[in-house]
Amino acid sequence: MDISRRRLMVTVFIASSLIMMLQCCDAVRHNVGGTKNDGWIPNKMNYTSDWAAHEQFYVGDWLYWGYYEPRINRQLYSVFEVNKMDYDSCSTDHPLYNISRGGGRDVYQLNQSRPYYFISGGGFCWQGMKLTVFVQELPPAPAAAPSTGSYAAPSTGSSASLSASLSGIFSIFATAAALVV
Ligand SMILES: *[C@@H]1O[C@H](CO)[C@@H](O)[C@H](O)[C@H]1NC(C)=O
Ligand SMILES: *[C@@H]1O[C@H](CO)[C@@H](O)[C@H](O)[C@H]1NC(C)=O
Ligand SMILES: *[C@@H]1O[C@H](CO)[C@@H](O)[C@H](O)[C@H]1NC(C)=O
Repeated sequence: MDISRRRLMVTVFIASSLIMMLQCCDAVRHNVGGTKNDGWIPNKMNYTSDWAAHEQFYVGDWLYWGYYEPRINRQLYSVFEVNKMDYDSCSTDHPLYNISRGGGRDVYQLNQSRPYYFISGGGFCWQGMKLTVFVQELPPAPAAAPSTGSYAAPSTGSSASLSASLSGIFSIFATAAALVV
């Protein structure tokens, strides 16, 4: 095998490894309700138990609420972050954050590991437009994930994750170096 072909293989190998590593821990955008155009509408589902319970939310992930079809929906519905008390009483009198931008495509980044409470204004909270999301610390890297599927305590998890990534990076470059030599 000549040198240029070997170089190409090494480059492809390193590039694909880097892409895999990026995909591993990239922030995820979650489409609320599972669809992009009409995921956030009244009486669709229990967003907390029917949708959020089947997703894993990590710090840095995004939520996306789509309600632009049919067109009238973007004027009727909205998204607010509220506290637990206002969530329970469906009140938008003192929202923590007004997420609605008017286009029926709203996004919000989940920056902290805590419960988040979201509701629609206009009384539609009473018709099921409410969502609770529990955000976790970043998970351990895939190699370090326990087979039970439950995550270790956050501090242990992140340090395990860090060392797993570091050893992953190291082995990639060690392999690449071995190929080049
Ligand atoms: C939705 O599910 C959650 C979690 O099971 C439950 O606490 C809540 O009462 C349900 N909401 C409605 C409107 O049924
Ligand atoms: C929320 O923000 C949108 C876009 O800036 C605005 O049109 C709307 O009036 C706001 N709603 C409230 C209740 O402040
Ligand atoms: C989350 O953090 C990013 C970057 O630090 C910041 O730009 C953004 O405004 C934050 N989002 C919220 C909803 O606080």
